Amino acid sequence: GTINFTVLTLFPELVDPFFEHGIISRAVDKNIITGKSVNIRDFSSDRHNTVDDRPYGGGCGMLMKPEPLALAINAAKQGSADSRVILMTPQGRRFDQGLALDLAARSEDLIFVCGRYEGIDERVCHTLVDDEISIGDYVMTGGELAAMVIIDAITRLLPGVLGGETSADVDSFRDDRLEHAQFTRPPAFESMDVPSVLLSGDHGAIERWRKRSSLKRTLLNRPDLLAKRALDGEERKILKT
Ligand code: ADE
Repeated sequence: GTINFTVLTLFPELVDPFFEHGIISRAVDKNIITGKSVNIRDFSSDRHNTVDDRPYGGGCGMLMKPEPLALAINAAKQGSADSRVILMTPQGRRFDQGLALDLAARSEDLIFVCGRYEGIDERVCHTLVDDEISIGDYVMTGGELAAMVIIDAITRLLPGVLGGETSADVDSFRDDRLEHAQFTRPPAFESMDVPSVLLSGDHGAIERWRKRSSLKRTLLNRPDLLAKRALDGEERKILKT
């Protein structure tokens, strides 16, 4: 079935164009996903359309008021038979390719709550939020970009989204290794040659070169990934030569 993504936000105009370009819009056209934004401000009840308030206990910054948020979440849930409400917050569990695969496989509709200001009232979290996710250890001004990151990473994993090529199963992180270096024409560019093995037609040698490239990159840029599992025999051999 289709996965329906709903983004609850104070800035729908930031989110809507995301569904109108590239592979994501193709997934929409093919009915693999739908995407829409809902303006949380439409659920405020006073004449100033207030959505924020000051934190109890003092401190700088504002919080999102619970009532409009709760109404917006409940309205979004009504529109789905099987949905999961995900709060975007740097306090959430960390997003990674494993979580993307997991959410893609569950094929629930996903409702993203994008906070602005300093956060949301804890009682909304407690009653209406199923999951809290962070896209990394840095703080953004709102959750919209984080929601789009997650929607993007999930969508490209859904059957029928990527072209007939191998695509998603040669991705970086599949075996806790980064993807190998790649080259296309011309064979010489600004006096740098494409490694000759890649032009050799020797598929065994090409495969070994790619393994080595992958391993070197991982060692240089992401040694933390190498620490996650032991090197296999082939990798040990590569590192010794
Ligand atoms: N909102 C602000 N920063 C965020 C982050 N790192 N992840 C998810 N949502 C956020």
